[in-house]
Amino acid sequence: MLDDTRNTRRVRSAPRPPEAGHAAQAREATPARQAAPAVAGDLVATDLVKTYGDGAAATHALAGVDLTVPAGESLAVMGPSGSGKTTLLHCLAGIVTPTSGSVIWRGADLATLSDRRRTALRRSDFGFVFQSGRLLPELPAVENAALPLMLAGTPRDVATAQAAQWLVRLGLAGMEQRRPGELSGGQAQRVAIARALAGSPGVVFADEPTGALDQPTGADVIQMLVATAHAAGASLVVVTHDINVARHCARIVTMYDGRISGEDGAHTAPEGEHRR
Ligand SMILES: Nc1ncnc2c1ncn2[C@@H]1O[C@H](COP(=O)(O)OP(=O)(O)OP(=O)(O)O)[C@@H](O)[C@H]1O
Ligand SMILES: [Mg+2]
Repeated sequence: MLDDTRNTRRVRSAPRPPEAGHAAQAREATPARQAAPAVAGDLVATDLVKTYGDGAAATHALAGVDLTVPAGESLAVMGPSGSGKTTLLHCLAGIVTPTSGSVIWRGADLATLSDRRRTALRRSDFGFVFQSGRLLPELPAVENAALPLMLAGTPRDVATAQAAQWLVRLGLAGMEQRRPGELSGGQAQRVAIARALAGSPGVVFADEPTGALDQPTGADVIQMLVATAHAAGASLVVVTHDINVARHCARIVTMYDGRISGEDGAHTAPEGEHRR
């Protein structure tokens, strides 16, 4: 029953190849997608609030966010600095516990899980790409990429063989034994993408994955990220300041002062209004 629903849904919202994944096309699909009930692979955030501190010093990083990341689809989150993008990403990924609201993934509210279960779930179900890769400098590329698999209990030889395949897919054949210091910024980000995908995650989260790269290298990396996540059937959430990066995703939402202020890059904050 569930599978039937998911199959129906997958056909309707099947991700497009990255070349065609422009926001304008996604706009047409948005109403149907929002009206559809959540299915097993959806990540669903409801009325997310995150307040840091209290009293006069309180910062309302998230002020009530409703967001569904449909199974297998790519979503870009844009917005000014301090608007809550990273906080949202961390709540969706179970890294930060929201003050209120829920994030439902595979039938569970992440906030209700024990720390241990949430950590295990992050390792098994989610992949992460950060701005500067966060690779371990002393490990060769292939071991960096294999790390999440090994942490999840995959034997070293199996994990490195799988990771090596990902490096090849990401155009890094022959660089498996290089340490991060021996790679360019773009190559290091490809290793980070391989690491994020090696464990077959349901969702990949990327916070400014191209933020430290020049424009052409950044374009190359986001293309790789969207294409490989798509091929792996993983959903993708990308936080970025760069509309040229966001455009690679099927859908763009814009944040302002802790809320979703627009879809597909539209920004509805009043003229002259200042962020916190
Ligand atoms: N751990 C924390 N403690 C207190 N305040 C925080 C914390 N993390 C974030 N904030 C505040 O929450 C708000 C949202 O921060 P967040 O990092 O989510 O913004 P952002 O949109 O990712 O910004 P940027 O584009 O600069 O990365 C900001 O006002 C920030 O100062
Ligand atoms: Mg941020």
